[in-house]
Amino acid sequence: MAEDLINNKDTYFPSYLGTNDKLITLLNRASQTLCEWFSKADKNGPLPFDESFKCIMPAENGNSEEDLFSEIESLLNNSFNPVHPGSLAHLDPPPLIFSILGDLIAAGLNNNLLAYELSPSVTLLEESLCKWFAKRIGFNDFSGGIAASGGTLSNLNALIAARNNAGLGSNPNSVLLVSEDAHSSFIKCIRVMGLDSTNLVRIKTDNKGRMDINYLRKSLDKCSVENKKIFAIVATLGTTVRGAIDPIKEISEICKQRKIWLHIDGSIGGIFAITSIRIEGLNHINQANSITINPQKIIGITKTSSLLLVSNMSTLENTFNTGLPYISSKENIINRGEIGIQGSRPAEIIKLWLGLRFLGLKGIENVLKSSIKRKDFFIKNISKNKFDIYSGPLHIISFLPKNLEPKDSDTWTQTKVNELINNNFMLSRPKFKGKYFLRVVMGNYNTKESHIEELLRLLNV
Ligand SMILES: Cc1ncc(COP(=O)(O)O)c(C=O)c1O
Repeated sequence: MAEDLINNKDTYFPSYLGTNDKLITLLNRASQTLCEWFSKADKNGPLPFDESFKCIMPAENGNSEEDLFSEIESLLNNSFNPVHPGSLAHLDPPPLIFSILGDLIAAGLNNNLLAYELSPSVTLLEESLCKWFAKRIGFNDFSGGIAASGGTLSNLNALIAARNNAGLGSNPNSVLLVSEDAHSSFIKCIRVMGLDSTNLVRIKTDNKGRMDINYLRKSLDKCSVENKKIFAIVATLGTTVRGAIDPIKEISEICKQRKIWLHIDGSIGGIFAITSIRIEGLNHINQANSITINPQKIIGITKTSSLLLVSNMSTLENTFNTGLPYISSKENIINRGEIGIQGSRPAEIIKLWLGLRFLGLKGIENVLKSSIKRKDFFIKNISKNKFDIYSGPLHIISFLPKNLEPKDSDTWTQTKVNELINNNFMLSRPKFKGKYFLRVVMGNYNTKESHIEELLRLLNV
């Protein structure tokens, strides 16, 4: 029986015997196809989508390799290309090469982070890497963390743990405080947690986009008067539209005094905290109870890669543990499906681990510093007479011509986005405080000063 399968050219799965020649040929061909796509990015631009792109659905019989490779090519040729130097719209940088390998290995392993018995080495790897991150940001020995598929889920894991920790499990008066510039994932989190918009208190920001501490104090007092129970305050370490950092020191002091869980959404800027790069406002993050770090957003770990770090691992265990009755457990090792909302989970940690091991701390700093340098170069050279510029200590800039009415911002940004994409620059147009802006995210390592000069030339005319 086994012999039959091995000799069968149409083997569906890797063989447990023999050489797996077929798989090796396919992997080589796939690598070749992918690398050719990277290399011709310059010709195709950041967003070469063709309206006639066809999505062909599975048929009665399986398709030939030739058909599949031709469809793979068509898929690639109609995809957003993050390696193009003009890809500057979002927090989606080019993929690190060792991270690409990590994804391949994780797919082949097909281990499951649900449980130790389904992923013995990877379970230990995730535990150790989370601990390493937690120690680097200044947490103590009780700390640790869990990976999740994206910043939204890391934030959700944190908030559920915070609410549970406050003993407010199903209390309809429980509230979360975030700045008005915090990410929209908190709206989702609140809904998923069975609450509504009245349970999300938004605190005004100052003229640099940071949470205004006076408003925070006033809101806290108002919550007490209204008998609202606060289960967490979120400080954002890098806002989505302008990269602002909330005053973490002051917020953490308030949280300590009032015994409120501090969650830091460091999806964008948190990774800076593991380096020695000095960023204004990055101190005191070890005062938090939890922090989201999202290495997919800036150093090129392939998606998805997000960590929730907590100062005390027992908060996650107490919140998510169910006993997992169909899985065995091993003494002193936590089944990692028991400390977060996800059950089955791929070995995403491998691409983070390989990416970081490949870069080393110097490489990580180099990538991060280069993004700040590109931001500085852009800001230095954009016309301050023509544009209002919104930026902070990180690598994100939003801008708009001076004195543009809200309704005109819609047309202006739409026209500019189209004009720029025709010139192979992809920028985004976030809606922010009632107006549309153009936003440039300088996380693309392939973008050189000459590209930024060309972008500015197109913008300044
Ligand atoms: C500040 C911030 N937090 C959270 C998120 C959500 O992350 P994800 O898209 O990985 O779920 C984002 C996304 O851009 C973000 O900018």
